Amino acid sequence: MTTVGYVHGYTARETRRLGDQADTLAQLLHAGTAYPAGSRVLEAGCGTGAQTVHLAAGSPGAHFVALDVSGASLAQARARLAARAPWARVDWVRADLCDLPFADAEFDHVFVCFVLEHLPDPERALAGLRRVLRPGGTVTAIEGDHGSVLFHPDSSYARAAVGHQVRLQSAAGGDALLGRRLQPLLTGAGYADVVVSPRTMYADGTRPALVEGFTRNTFIAMIESVRDEALAAGLTTRGDWDRGIADLHRAADGGTFQYSFFKAVGLNPGTPGRGRAS
Ligand SMILES: C[S@@+](CC[C@H](N)C(=O)[O-])C[C@H]1O[C@@H](n2cnc3c(N)ncnc32)[C@H](O)[C@@H]1O
Repeated sequence: MTTVGYVHGYTARETRRLGDQADTLAQLLHAGTAYPAGSRVLEAGCGTGAQTVHLAAGSPGAHFVALDVSGASLAQARARLAARAPWARVDWVRADLCDLPFADAEFDHVFVCFVLEHLPDPERALAGLRRVLRPGGTVTAIEGDHGSVLFHPDSSYARAAVGHQVRLQSAAGGDALLGRRLQPLLTGAGYADVVVSPRTMYADGTRPALVEGFTRNTFIAMIESVRDEALAAGLTTRGDWDRGIADLHRAADGGTFQYSFFKAVGLNPGTPGRGRAS
C-alpha cells in the first residue's frame, strides 16, 4: 500500500488541521455537490472523515463507501462520523485507491479531495476510479494549488517557505500545484464533459473565522509542519525558515491572504480509453 512518502503524515496535529480545513471550507468546496437518495458514492482517500461529514450532510440519502489506505485514519473517521453524523450511511474500507477492491461500474459517483496531489500517477488513479464508476456516473475531484497563494505584506522569505513545501511534496512523488492540472488529468483518464470551477478563499481582518480556520490553522500549519524536513534536506536555514513563518503570520495579523482551490466534475462516458462520449 502506498503510504510511504505521504508528505503530511498522520499526526494528531494533522488530524486537527484536516478538520479545520474541511469545516472552514465546507460551503466553498461542497456547494453544488449533492447525490440523489439511494445512490452509491465512493469517497476515495477519506482520511479522518473531515470531508465525509460534509458529504453526508449534503446528501443524507446517499450510501457512502469511504476508503483510505490508513487504518488509523479510518478509525478516527468512524469516530468523527459517529459523533457528528450518526445517521449517515457510510461503509469504511481500508485499501489502496490505486488498486481498488471493487467490481467494474459498482458506484454511481466518486468523490476525491486533496488526495491526487499526493499520488505519483494521478491520471492512472483517476482511470482506476473510472473503472468502478457506472457509465453516466460522475467523478468530483477537489485540489489546491500552492502557486495560487497571494498574501500581504509580501515577503520573499514567506514565499520561499511555501516553495520548500512544494519541493518536498514533489520529492515525495506528489504535486502541490496539481489544481491547475485537473482538467487535462480528468480528460486524459477518459472522463467526458469535464468542468472545472476555481474556488477562491480570501481572508482578512474582517473575516476572523477564515483567518483562524484557514490562513492560520490550515495553510500556515501545513507549511510549518515540514520545518524539520526542509532543514534536513538543506533547503533552508533555521533563521530563514523562522522568518518565513513569522512573515506568513503577518498575513493573518492584520494582513490579507488568498488561495484558490479547483473543483472538477467529469462524466464517465462508459467507453474504456475514450475521452469523450461519441
Ligand atoms: C490530505 S489527506 C485528505 C483526506 C480527506 N480527503 C480530507 O480532505 O480531509 C490525504 C489522504 O489520502 C490518503 N491516501 C494517500 N494515498 C492513498 C492511496 N494510494 N490509497 C488510499 N488512500 C491514500 C492518505 O492516507 C490521507 O488520508
